[in-house]
Amino acid sequence: MRATIALLPGDGIGPEVTEAAARVLEVVARRFDHDLTLTRHPIGGTALRAGDPPLPDATRAACAAADAVLLGAVGDPEFDHGPSAGRPETGLLQLRKELAVFANLRPARMWPGLEDGGSLKPDRVRGLDMLIVRELTGGLYYGEPRGRTDDGQAAFNTMRYARPEIERIAVVAFESARQRRGLVTSVDKANVLDTSRLWREVVTEVGARYPDVRLEHQYVDSCALLMVTDPQKFDVVVAGNLFGDILSDEAGGLVGSLGLLPSASVGGRGGLFEPVHGSAPDIAGRDIANPVAAIASAAMLLRHALGADEEAGVIERAIGDTLAAGLRTADLLAGASGAAVSCSGMTDAVVERLEQA
Ligand code: IPM
Ligand code: MN
Repeated sequence: MRATIALLPGDGIGPEVTEAAARVLEVVARRFDHDLTLTRHPIGGTALRAGDPPLPDATRAACAAADAVLLGAVGDPEFDHGPSAGRPETGLLQLRKELAVFANLRPARMWPGLEDGGSLKPDRVRGLDMLIVRELTGGLYYGEPRGRTDDGQAAFNTMRYARPEIERIAVVAFESARQRRGLVTSVDKANVLDTSRLWREVVTEVGARYPDVRLEHQYVDSCALLMVTDPQKFDVVVAGNLFGDILSDEAGGLVGSLGLLPSASVGGRGGLFEPVHGSAPDIAGRDIANPVAAIASAAMLLRHALGADEEAGVIERAIGDTLAAGLRTADLLAGASGAAVSCSGMTDAVVERLEQA
């Protein structure tokens, strides 16, 4: 196999965790005799600091030409002011739209051995395995009009969903549920929002084409509660852009750390793969970030963009074995005793297992 992967390290801990994922991809390429070319491009605050827009033209072109894109994180407190055009996050939103990756798959599963590390009782989260299917190129994130009134004293955004946008994300959810435990929980706020009423209507229609999959509807507030009271009940959760963003951070709390959650954004050409966590500027540059989310995102890239299922499985097993052996980055210790391993130390341990696989 021959493929080009565009790496966008981005801001904060992005470069550290992207390097970890790159090392893993290089080992896998060597072991499986693949010809992977990794190229690196600026995005977000890193681009802004060089005087470029948050998604520079050269980065845009490289991503469009690559077989897949792996992103670290964007977000930098230095640019936390002013209009959208000058913010790091805008670069990522433009990239998602441009690659047309409308389906964001955010699996959250409990790695054996980490049950004690989260905020819930171990029995509540043992074997937890859910998939959040987040709509990624519509909804409140992109709706127009948006902005400030002329006097600057009010601001507004538009939540808008069209039928085809809901239909295609629903199809992804039902197809995923078919490969899993056959349950789709659709998230909305249909008791209040018009967009949610249409959402519920369309998801129900699509559901009728999948008689083998069970469909439940949950209001987003109630879903947020159920996720901490009865998380094991969930299989596939399908949600709009904003609700999916919020619930996926909550899922990080369930499995022990946001630093464990990978994601795959698919539906367009190639695909965009990124850890769910952000740039975490408070811990950037100290080699203490958890590289697991980025490494697991690289596994998703191999599976979803390059069809390399076996290679993806090998990476996931190496992560599982490393965690089962007791290695913990600082985020996974959460007050427990034991010494934390560094970002590069965790990566070394995963790479070592890959070399032996
Ligand atoms: C995520 C992030 C992004 C989002 C930000 C950085 C724009 O929070 O991927 O979950 O809101 O989608
Ligand atoms: Mn988020």
